[in-house]
Amino acid sequence: MRTLNVSLDSRSYPIHIGPSLLAEAALIVPFLPRPQVAVISNTTIAPLYLEKLTAPLLAAGVRVTEIILPDGEVYKNWETLNVIFDALLRERCDRATTLIALGGGVIGDLTGFAAACFQRGLPFIQVPTTLLAQVDSSVGGKTGINHPRGKNMIGAFWQPQLVLADTGTLTTLPDRELSAGLAEVIKYGLIRDGSFLTWCEANVERLMARDAEALTVAIERSCFHKAEVVADDERETASSGGRALLNLGHTFGHAIETGMGYGQWLHGEAVAAGMVVAAELSRRLGWLTAAEVDRVRTLLTRAGLPTEWPATLTVDRALELMAHDKKVIAGQQRLVLLKRLGEAVTWKDAPEADIRAAIESCRG
Ligand code: NAD
Ligand code: GLY
Repeated sequence: MRTLNVSLDSRSYPIHIGPSLLAEAALIVPFLPRPQVAVISNTTIAPLYLEKLTAPLLAAGVRVTEIILPDGEVYKNWETLNVIFDALLRERCDRATTLIALGGGVIGDLTGFAAACFQRGLPFIQVPTTLLAQVDSSVGGKTGINHPRGKNMIGAFWQPQLVLADTGTLTTLPDRELSAGLAEVIKYGLIRDGSFLTWCEANVERLMARDAEALTVAIERSCFHKAEVVADDERETASSGGRALLNLGHTFGHAIETGMGYGQWLHGEAVAAGMVVAAELSRRLGWLTAAEVDRVRTLLTRAGLPTEWPATLTVDRALELMAHDKKVIAGQQRLVLLKRLGEAVTWKDAPEADIRAAIESCRG
């Protein structure tokens, strides 16, 4: 087991990474204010992993409530949140109950937001089971739900007590989901670690083949970066750079996710196509060469990811959706772009004509 720490004063927490951690109740129990948990999962993950997690907890004398939600990005909404609240009230859960998110980013974001809201705040633990959740969404305390007008528009910053990333769960992950997680792994290389980008290029086939050692390196390095960025700028308030840089490709990607309908494009797929647009725009601003944009495109393609803008999403509609982006300040668009491969910046001065041209030139 490897352990990293997210340093946030009294809200600091460990990230444990390794095989078979699900069944290690001893890693969880010390974090429970009272031996009572509500495990939130979905209909796909629960049959695979719920009992592995709960049996050792029950054996340790922990009272366990199970809340099993339908599976899908389309359920990351108010209605599902209310299903969680109903169950917590029915089971007489209170402020000393710990919520455990067992699943991917959808379950993690929903559970974290429920924990932030219920009785004005409960402790929660992330047990991420997708690569995307293990390298990104389970760390950093962004929680929330989607609104029909925009991705992740309603939410809260609410840090978990613990992240338990059991790498063994990745063996059952569908190939398309594995690739979606690799988009966020590659993102860290692009925004702040050129040598990790080179490592990804050298090891992408091993990652795609689920080589345990390569996946562990990728998860650890990704969590290292995420933890460092979050510790410096927890609430994304830095006037330039900071946590916003983790959103490379996300302004364009969120427009794809919302514009195409939640769940049609996976989050990681939309981020991949969005990162290509960001790279292309960076080229138009004179920061990247055409060869470097091709390097980005090639790596994402090798990772099984889409690199073309969806043919049916018009530029006008995309710009309309992008106007709701959380990085927009006083109506001014702030984009995350690449000064070079391995260094990102937030940029508010990209001409709209260049943004339009960058999207158009990436259209499939
Ligand atoms: P997801 O949660 O929808 O999971 C992907 C699919 O894989 C689901 O069908 C799920 O049931 C299934 N699954 C999960 N684990 C499995 C396993 N071990 N074996 C087999 N199937 C498994 O998608 P995701 O990519 O994990 O997360 C995407 C979500 O995360 C989006 O809503 C995105 O907005 C959010 N996100 C949040 C943050 C953050 O900082 N909070 C960061 C990035 C993404
Ligand atoms: N995934 C972006 C962030 O956590 O800030």
